[in-house]
Amino acid sequence: MSSPEPCSRPRIEIDLASVLRRATAGVHAEIEQLPLMLRLTSETATLDDYRRYLRAIVTIHAPLEQALYARLDDTTRDRLGIVPKLPALLADMEEQSLAFNPATLAFAPGPVLLDDLSATVGGLYVLEGATLGGRTIARHLRRLIGEPLGAARFLDFHSRHTSVAWKGFTTGLNALAAQQVLVPDRVIAGALAVFEHVYKRLELAGG
Ligand code: HEM
Repeated sequence: MSSPEPCSRPRIEIDLASVLRRATAGVHAEIEQLPLMLRLTSETATLDDYRRYLRAIVTIHAPLEQALYARLDDTTRDRLGIVPKLPALLADMEEQSLAFNPATLAFAPGPVLLDDLSATVGGLYVLEGATLGGRTIARHLRRLIGEPLGAARFLDFHSRHTSVAWKGFTTGLNALAAQQVLVPDRVIAGALAVFEHVYKRLELAGG
């Protein structure tokens, strides 16, 4: 007997996006309290703080994004409506006259990443969700630093389309879960693994 197609399975409604938010709220709050991030969000944040952040985040984001996208198929990527953010980050680095060492890409977060599609999408939830807080931080830095901040393309990745982009991502995520293309527990495990990796690396980078 052949196995049923995903679309013939009963739909299980789950707001996976909300479940993910709750499951990762603790580690997200811990990230916000790291010295590097506290400096960025303080009322005395400087251009040097922003540059320090760029130097740290590129060593974390670049290998992570590369590894996660390599595990993703085109259909799922299109349904989630996501695109790589590394080009924006590299443009910000160039604007700030910061060098990017391509050897960074060799530091793949291999062992912390889980291999299946659900866990991969969980990891991409972390990278996509970061654009929400990123927009708030970009506004804050623009107010304090002004023009020398530059475009802040990475932090303010979706700019005024942030809400629409997030709605698209969470709608795609919930639809894939409803169709049982994604296994919620694995998505959560993938998101937590990536969040913890980001936490540890930011802690090391920002001391
Ligand atoms: C100082 C550092 C940070 C601040 C102040 C911050 C702030 C925020 C804010 C304000 C939101 C939006 C919450 C909402 O719309 O209700 C958010 C969402 C989010 N942030 Fe951060 N963030 C920070 C760092 C990060 C980092 C480094 C990551 C991961 C790389 C991250 C991942 C996320 C995710 C995944 C969400 C979506 C949560 C959800 O609604 O499901 N954040 N953040």
